[in-house]
This record gives sequence, structure tokens and C-alpha cells, in this order.
Amino acid sequence: MAKRRKARSPEPEVSGPVKGDFIAPPEASETDEREDALPRQEEFWRPPVRFGSVPVEKEPLGWDRRRGFRKLFPHVPLPFQVIERVTFGHPELEPNRLFWGDNLHVMRQLPSESIDLIYIDPPFFSGRQYNVIFGDQNELRSFSDIREGGMPGYLIWLNARLYEMKRLLKKTGSICVHLDWHAVHYARVELDKIFGHGCFRNEVVWYYYNKMHDRRKRLLPRAHDAILVFGKTSEAKYNQVEIPLEQPVKRLARKKIGGRAVNARDEDGNLLYITKSSRALDDVWRISMLQPADKTYRIGYPTEKPPRLLEWLIKTSATKGTRSPISFAAVVLRHSRLRRSLAAGSPATSRGWRWRSRPTAWHAGQSS
Ligand SMILES: C[S@@+](CC[C@H](N)C(=O)[O-])C[C@H]1O[C@@H](n2cnc3c(N)ncnc32)[C@H](O)[C@@H]1O
Repeated sequence: MAKRRKARSPEPEVSGPVKGDFIAPPEASETDEREDALPRQEEFWRPPVRFGSVPVEKEPLGWDRRRGFRKLFPHVPLPFQVIERVTFGHPELEPNRLFWGDNLHVMRQLPSESIDLIYIDPPFFSGRQYNVIFGDQNELRSFSDIREGGMPGYLIWLNARLYEMKRLLKKTGSICVHLDWHAVHYARVELDKIFGHGCFRNEVVWYYYNKMHDRRKRLLPRAHDAILVFGKTSEAKYNQVEIPLEQPVKRLARKKIGGRAVNARDEDGNLLYITKSSRALDDVWRISMLQPADKTYRIGYPTEKPPRLLEWLIKTSATKGTRSPISFAAVVLRHSRLRRSLAAGSPATSRGWRWRSRPTAWHAGQSS
């Protein structure tokens, strides 16, 4: 009797553009006539009374009343080309996109109010050139954070991008801007002008307690970065996040009587206790830096960030199904490393984060 062969199920169809396809850029006008261009600054930039008469420019640095940021950074319409498609075993899911190119030009071609949460890790105005010899092939990976225009030049460059990010955010969306002591205070003022002082939500302090310090420097060791969180509007989402305590703690039980919180007691008048094993996440996050020996996440990029940081940012501001790009990300588009570097930015616990499912790499402009 002839052996019956088991029929092989057909490969699932991949939807959307495939490798090599070009996507034409949308039409764009020279002037910035969009409805969500910066509103009248007198209304928008309304500092609290306690500011007094602080001499602050009312418009973001680099803004032109007629042409917006397009006067300094002209619109460059570029086609996107699909250069790689990675399914991670889920070809049936809607593809995500990983863009490769200058994010200003990429963002200008994306639709308004389409994004829930944006995290950016831009150059910090550190005045440094970052180099690293990477991988088995000894490739040089580098980026320069040295700017000729000084702080104003840096802020103008950043503002043009923040402005596009604001346009991309949904009304319920938020942006997390990761900086450090070099520029955070200057950027905060510009963010106030772009998003409005009232939309500021938090300054999250990332305390990296395990960084090595140079003891010869005559100052306190610098051990934190700041992440400025702004909502697009007052409707921005917020979730309270509970984090586990290293050791459970015994606390007095409290209850409300007539609107007042008092210690809870049993029938005999004895104080009641509860054991807490978690606490609400506040705005100081103690998260270790990725150590060179860390083989789980670290890919070796000089400014790589720990996944827990992103996990907590996503959990506090996102809901299931969130669309959240990471901008200024140094993601490595190389075969197996692609998976690893994306996984490094997409913690398993944030189920709603769609980057995990199936990224497609797009290149802004012609591929060489
Ligand atoms: C501070 S690093 C952070 C890198 C990355 N987030 C990480 O943790 O490894 C800033 C990154 O922004 C990238 N970058 C600078 N200008 C950019 C631009 N105009 N568009 C997109 N990325 C840019 C740099 O190449 C660099 O990789």
C-alpha cells in the first residue's frame, strides 16, 4: 500500500508591501498650514503667575511664523523602500515599521494623530563623539554629538522634531524626552512652548546607581538622567503602576471614617496591620545601567538603555494596542541582531507594545 503523504499547509500570505517595494511620499505644501501648527503663543505659552516676568522667547527657537520649521529645515519628500521584512513567526499580524533615516523627514510623511506614545533618546548635547567597535566583523558604529551652533543650534534642531512629534501624537498620547544635565533644563523651556506648560506631566529621574565614577573629578558623581513627560492634551493616558518591594513590609491598616483616614482597629481596639509586597511607582526610578557582562539585553551600543526603563514608561502611559515608536534609536538592522536589539527594547511584560510582533524595516530614500 502506498504511503500517504501528509499535506503541507500553505505558507500564510504576507500582507502589505514586500521587500524592494517603494512607497511614494505624500504631497506636501511649502508653508505650514496644518491645523495643529502651534497655536497663538500668548494663549499656549501661559506661564504660571509665580514665574513673574521671566524673559522667555514666546516662540520655540527656530520657528518661523509663516513657514514653521520648514524655513530652516525644508521639506524633503522621500519614498520609503521596504528593505527587510521580519515576521518573527507571525506573518498574519499587521506589520510594524522600523524606519531608517533622518527622523524629521520620516515623521513629516506620517499621518497626524496616529501615535499613542513616543519615547525619544536624542543626542544629549554632550559634546562627545561616540565610537564603538562592534560585533565579530569589528565594525565601527558611531554617532557625533558635537554641534557647531552651540545650545541654540541644538535646540532649534530638536524643536523641529518635537514639533512633528506633537503633530503625530493622538489627543490621548504622551511623549517621553530622555535627556541629562547637559540640555534638559533648556529643553524643558522649549517643550513648554511647544506642548504648553500645562501639559507637562512628570520629570522622571532615572537613577543609575551602579555607574562607575571618576574619583578625580571634584564634584558629586552624576548618577541620573531625566525623562520629561508631556501629554499632548489633558486627556493623556496615565496608569498607576505597582512595583514589587524587595522585601514585604508590615504597615498599619487605614480606613476612612467621615472622609478622614484613621488607623483601623479590630473589635477589641487592637491596631490592625497589612503586609505590602508592592508600592506605587513614583518619579524616581532606580534601575541599573546595562553592564558589559550582561548577555541578556546588551548589544554593545555606547548609549544603550535598559529595557526596564522603557517597560515602565510604557506601562505608565499606554494601553493595550499602543502604537509607540522609539525615536533616535540605535537599532541594529543585521539578521539575528535585529531580533535581539528589538527584543532589547521590547520587554516581555509590555504586551500592548506592538513593536514586538513583527517589524518591517523601511528606508527613507533610495537604497544605495
Ligand atoms: C543618545 S543616542 C541614543 C541611542 C539609542 N537610543 C540607544 O540607547 O542605544 C542618539 C541616537 O540618535 C541618533 N540620531 C541622531 N540624529 C538623528 C536623526 N536626525 N534621526 C534619527 N536618529 C538620529 C544617533 O545616531 C544615535 O544613535
